[in-house]
Amino acid sequence: MSAPALPHPGCPTSAVDPFSRAFLLDPYPFHQELREAGPVVHIDAYGLWAMARHAEVAASLNDWQTFCSSAGVGLSDFRKETPWRPPSLVLEADPPLHTRTRTVLARVLSPNAIRELRAGFEREAECLVDRLVAAGQFDGIKDLAEVYPPKVFGDAVGLPAEGRENLLPYGGMAFNAFGPRNELFETAFANAAPVIGWITAMCRRDAVAADGLGARIFQAADSGELSEEEAGLLLRSFLTAGVDTTVNALGNALFCFAEHPDQWALLQANPALARNAFEEVLRFEAAVQTFFRTTTRQVEVSGTTIPEGAKVLLFLGAANRDPRAWQRPDNFDINRRVVGQMGFGTGIHGCVGQMVARLEGEIILASLARKVRRIERNGPLQRRLNNTLRGLDALPLRVTPV
Ligand code: HEM
Repeated sequence: MSAPALPHPGCPTSAVDPFSRAFLLDPYPFHQELREAGPVVHIDAYGLWAMARHAEVAASLNDWQTFCSSAGVGLSDFRKETPWRPPSLVLEADPPLHTRTRTVLARVLSPNAIRELRAGFEREAECLVDRLVAAGQFDGIKDLAEVYPPKVFGDAVGLPAEGRENLLPYGGMAFNAFGPRNELFETAFANAAPVIGWITAMCRRDAVAADGLGARIFQAADSGELSEEEAGLLLRSFLTAGVDTTVNALGNALFCFAEHPDQWALLQANPALARNAFEEVLRFEAAVQTFFRTTTRQVEVSGTTIPEGAKVLLFLGAANRDPRAWQRPDNFDINRRVVGQMGFGTGIHGCVGQMVARLEGEIILASLARKVRRIERNGPLQRRLNNTLRGLDALPLRVTPV
């Protein structure tokens, strides 16, 4: 019997389900399988195209004309399905709208604005780390990763203290919603109404402090750059993208160091490595694992023709461990030159908040490095599965003070 014709000539197909429990628990063997299958792979389960090699992921993110975001950066195609909420005016937009909104957010998060945040972020980190080191044992997720960003970023935005417990469930919903409507999605949305209600209430001018980053978005409405409603939706982008991401990244950082005591010894000996160390965490255990694009035309990528209107899944986490781009990609090495890691994306949608995230990561790691000689796991960890994010639910730790 002759072999059946390939459904997508020249393109390998894969039976891997990137949103299954097995994949999300340990994506790395699957990443390798996808990278080695070819530069573009058709994922039959969802009828989508995928790229897991660094070169193709980076090239697609840098070609917004062909790989657009306005049809959604998840599996759902906004041209065919109604999104679960009004689309983001920045993440889920193409130029010229994206250029206008991104300009405002880039100004609000300018280098000057980030510099102003440093002293407050450092004060909070010192207090938190002192308390945890004095306790000797703590949960790296519940007691550190989930405490620090809601506090410092929430304060920076100008959110009231009350209700911030809604930030993480909201992020959980938004990042699960980039995947299929599987059990993770359903669980995240089980109690959606009060969470969405609080977030919506916070996206108004009178809900946020007059001197925070949130208020600065509304200044663009005063000058006519944005409508009042657009300003509210842009504030929503901060609340969606600015908390769960950093929480998972900080948790992953603690995980990496608990698993690699030799790397902790290096950081402890030289806390100035903290910034590069956080960057290596984002490469090695990318907090944001994937984003989608949609093709605006038929396009050929490394010999494979992808039709117009196709959903394309870009594996940032797999690109970050592509041996074509990195030496010893599966080694966690805080002295590595990490330039080009895809954890913040790249191109016009490259993370607009990356300097805030880096500030948080650097400050927490440097503070721990100055005060903690040894950091060890003190019990079994629990993974938190999410259709987009990689992170933990529990990470019991024991620390030995300097
Ligand atoms: C370690 C923490 C973070 C990670 C791993 C991360 C990751 C990413 C990635 C991969 C993208 C690209 C999306 C795409 O190409 O479709 C992105 C975009 C974005 N991020 Fe972050 N992010 C983090 C922290 C933050 C923070 C703290 C903020 C807010 C201050 C933020 C706000 C945004 C926004 C608004 C976008 C959309 C930008 C655009 O479409 O032009 N992120 N982020």
